[in-house]
Amino acid sequence: MAAIASPHPRFLAPSILAGDHAQLIEALDTVAAHFPIRWLHLDIMDGHFVPNLSFGPQTVADLRKRNKRLFFDTHLMLSHPDKYVEAFAQAGSDLICVHVEADHDIASTLHKIRELGCLRGLALNPDTPAAAVEPWLDQVELVLVMTVWPGFGGQSFISSTLPKMAELAQLRSDRGLNFRLEVDGGINTETALKCADCGVDTFVAGTAFFRAANHRQFIEAVCGPQADY
Ligand code: DX5
Ligand code: ZN
Repeated sequence: MAAIASPHPRFLAPSILAGDHAQLIEALDTVAAHFPIRWLHLDIMDGHFVPNLSFGPQTVADLRKRNKRLFFDTHLMLSHPDKYVEAFAQAGSDLICVHVEADHDIASTLHKIRELGCLRGLALNPDTPAAAVEPWLDQVELVLVMTVWPGFGGQSFISSTLPKMAELAQLRSDRGLNFRLEVDGGINTETALKCADCGVDTFVAGTAFFRAANHRQFIEAVCGPQADY
């Protein structure tokens, strides 16, 4: 697949959903111990948009108290994300990503996220076409292509999402846009490289990262041996 290279260095965003929820601090400290990891992915679930519940703003705020360095990439899998962007911004999120399929006025939610001082992300479920986010590509700093059905970690990568990544990378290039292109779900050293070939630059990994025998090797396998990160 002809790759439209990303303008961004590759970043890994470990998903703390895969950590021990009775001691998320341990998972946070594992991520924080591995510079050059810069991003932490926080999966917020409402049991309605997705059939699972995870954690809320208080957990994010407590994690932020513990770590001021990591970039908090907050993924709202909520039916009404507009109602919660302020709480997650105040909790310390750096970026707030909302689903295009959720029940909200997308332009208004993106405006609100920006007003709150956070970067803006739009997420697409596996069966949602790239066209669904086209109207807002110039209003976001990140597009998230879900590579599993949202709700649970540890699922298998859905390879039919690869063409959508390439399409979005092409749109980014054609329109001179600069959003990061992120993937999320079933990302490991093998699937990450398939996504990178499609122009992806930001990789969420929960299970594969936390289960890796050698985190440093995992990071370099996904992001390349970039010294400058
Ligand atoms: C699923 C979440 C993903 C998930 C990734 O709804 O959005 O971030 O935690 O988990 P793995 O990497 O375990 O597939
Ligand atoms: Zn996620």
